Amino acid sequence: MSEQRCRLPGWRNKLMSAAQAAELIDDGMIVGMSGFTRAGEAKAVPLALAERARSTPLSITLMTGASLGNDIDAKLTEAGVLARRMPFQVDTTLRRAINRGEVMFIDQHLSETVELLRNKQLGNLDIAVIEACAITEEGGIVPTASVGNSASFAILAERVIIELNLNSPTALEGLHDIYIPQMRPKRTPIPITAPNSRIGLPYIPIDPAKIAAIVLTDGHDSPSNCKPADPDTQRIADHLIEFFVSEVAQGRLSNSLLPLQAGIGTMANAVMEGLLSAPFEGLTMYSEVLQDSTFALLDSGKMSFASGSSITLTEECGARVWANLDAYRDRLVLRPQELSNHPGVVRRLGVIAVNTALEIDIYGNVNSTHVCATRMMNGIGGSGDFARNGQLSIFITKALAKNGDISSLVPFASHVDHCEHDVDIIVTEHGLADLRGLAPRERAPLLIENCADPLYRDALHDYFERACARGGQTPHCLEEALAWHQALERDGSMRAFSSAGRKPDFIDEK
Ligand code: COA
Repeated sequence: MSEQRCRLPGWRNKLMSAAQAAELIDDGMIVGMSGFTRAGEAKAVPLALAERARSTPLSITLMTGASLGNDIDAKLTEAGVLARRMPFQVDTTLRRAINRGEVMFIDQHLSETVELLRNKQLGNLDIAVIEACAITEEGGIVPTASVGNSASFAILAERVIIELNLNSPTALEGLHDIYIPQMRPKRTPIPITAPNSRIGLPYIPIDPAKIAAIVLTDGHDSPSNCKPADPDTQRIADHLIEFFVSEVAQGRLSNSLLPLQAGIGTMANAVMEGLLSAPFEGLTMYSEVLQDSTFALLDSGKMSFASGSSITLTEECGARVWANLDAYRDRLVLRPQELSNHPGVVRRLGVIAVNTALEIDIYGNVNSTHVCATRMMNGIGGSGDFARNGQLSIFITKALAKNGDISSLVPFASHVDHCEHDVDIIVTEHGLADLRGLAPRERAPLLIENCADPLYRDALHDYFERACARGGQTPHCLEEALAWHQALERDGSMRAFSSAGRKPDFIDEK
């Protein structure tokens, strides 16, 4: 191994196998692990822990930055290791265990987890397991493709296990900007004034005495499973770009827009890719996850700088980027997620936040997390950090889900992650609704007309009109407000509402 990877004197005395390091984790511990949207997770120790738990049952509270790759959440769930999990996940096996009530999932704004930890509201962090591409002379940890919560985990934990990944590009060193806000009440302003501000260190500073183990690994991050744009996502991107063009024409945005944030997944990635052929220049990003579209925009010269907390790429894009990281070095920074998602910084920079909704109600309340009010999908992630504080809070969704059995526009959101006050713009493949400055009675007809699928449009207008007849600032027919979800639970479809063009017979007229 290159001595450049590990410059800490005497580091060989701390070398352990993953299985030996996993023995340091005891039943009932609170453990913080690196990893953010399939990037930079600890890869060997969690799997060794799952293996050990099969013969010696144990369970822990696991905190990460966000979701993990390499099926780690699935394997930990199957081995019964997860008693509590926070703040985000996207794994099918874990999701099922959460929805069976077997794993307590604490769904948090991603900027908040380490604030709660620092304030001792989540107990003491017993151990941190952090993936590194290098360890400095003083024991500083140089993270890999994500920072996430790793810096605060390593600083706050009593002991630290470092997974030194010999396959991670050494060119990652220098890309990170590690800054930890001071304790309240003496905290000073976070001095980020532009996406390219660098305010901290290129490594996580810790006391080397806390390093309990160094484990050598060689695994790879799981590639992003982002799919190419389809005609509907392409239309969503087109509507949004047309809106940006009109905002520029009206002098509300400049031709470089404002720093962009894009949520996870195919739709947000497609919107960003749409900017490749749009007439904007000098774009910047202030986001959490840097996806393929970020690098396409950097390559095209349309984007000048991108700030994030992780880099998550498809196999094809990854092969290109990881081999040429030096070419991006002065145009990228990776920060702790409490800074990439910091409400104050997001407000200061005027971020344009583009996130995906599961469902949206006729007044603009957005559900990003729960199917039919009860079942967790992934979690709120960073969407709330950005939606609440950005200059423009945009939610995108396809108007239909499950081949038309579900309307993404419903009379009443069955769960609200982003309330009407935090939502400016809604976009579906059918069009865009600009809700800024509109009262609820003005929002609903616009949203229904511009964004609902024609299959459900009449039924939504019908609901709204009958609700208005009853009065109220935000009119509703309460006994019917969740009837669409009840139909979905009962019949597996909301279509009973579509065919009638108004309320179906099973709804009593009150
Ligand atoms: N009711 C039930 N299921 C729905 C639905 C609804 N109203 N709308 C969509 N779905 C289903 C889809 O059919 C799809 O199911 P499948 O996986 O079985 O095919 C699944 O939800 C995902 O929807 P999709 O349309 O493919 O969108 P996506 O992959 O972009 O995910 C979210 C959408 C909302 C789940 C995802 O963006 C998310 O988890 N957001 C919250 C976190 C976040 O916004 N982070 C951003 C900051 S990084």
